[in-house]
Amino acid sequence: MSLKGVILAGGLGKRLYPLTKITNKHLLPVYNKPMVYYPIQTLVDAGIENILIVTGGNNAGEFLRLLGNGKDFGLKHINYTYQEGEGGIADALKLAQHFADNDKVVVILGDNIIEKDIIRPVEDFKKQAKGARILLKKVEDPERFGVAELKGDKIISIEEKPKKPKSDYAVTGIYMYDSGVFEIIKRLKPSGRNELEITDVNNAYLDRGELEYSMLDGWWTDSGTFESLLNANMLVAKKVKA
Ligand code: G1P
Repeated sequence: MSLKGVILAGGLGKRLYPLTKITNKHLLPVYNKPMVYYPIQTLVDAGIENILIVTGGNNAGEFLRLLGNGKDFGLKHINYTYQEGEGGIADALKLAQHFADNDKVVVILGDNIIEKDIIRPVEDFKKQAKGARILLKKVEDPERFGVAELKGDKIISIEEKPKKPKSDYAVTGIYMYDSGVFEIIKRLKPSGRNELEITDVNNAYLDRGELEYSMLDGWWTDSGTFESLLNANMLVAKKVKA
């Protein structure tokens, strides 16, 4: 069964105003490339060549001008779709149902940048009969993220941006789902911030006993705030110059 890739690059990027007042966050520079290049490369490096970009908000058309059919990544084709409004990560993922067409998907948030690759976790997910797999990373500021509580080699809870995190393990913005994900999203209710939360999707898999995880190798950063965007620039610059 083939594995497809979905990059979520919508939203209004409000935490980066005024940088995102006239453009989409994922088109902003991270050192020497536009932000969205990094998650695309992560998928391509893992052997995933059938990719959908879900965009939205400002300048959605610029993705087509920037990426075309993916020649810079050795791709023959890229798929695009548009998220209206700002309904959250799970709402954006809903738009991938037609594209997924009952195949498994690897989903990456368009502002998540990693040092190494996800080849091993993707191979493990291919072997996984059903369910979901998330990637965890130990961080110093877990309260900024979804946080997974572990017991032995099992996840026992995930909380979205908890004030008192139960562990240091952030749920990174790289998620792997079977085709059941779209039924789960249909049943979600909006959260306090009026979004369909990806953490609720992951907890639905956890409740079914179908949530696996891998630890992400190398550094990981998001780039949706001034601090994390600056950090992303510095990490990538160091890597490029190494
Ligand atoms: C989102 C998710 C969060 C995850 C993070 C990773 O947060 O809601 O669970 O840890 O991405 O980048 P956001 O940055 O969109 O608020």
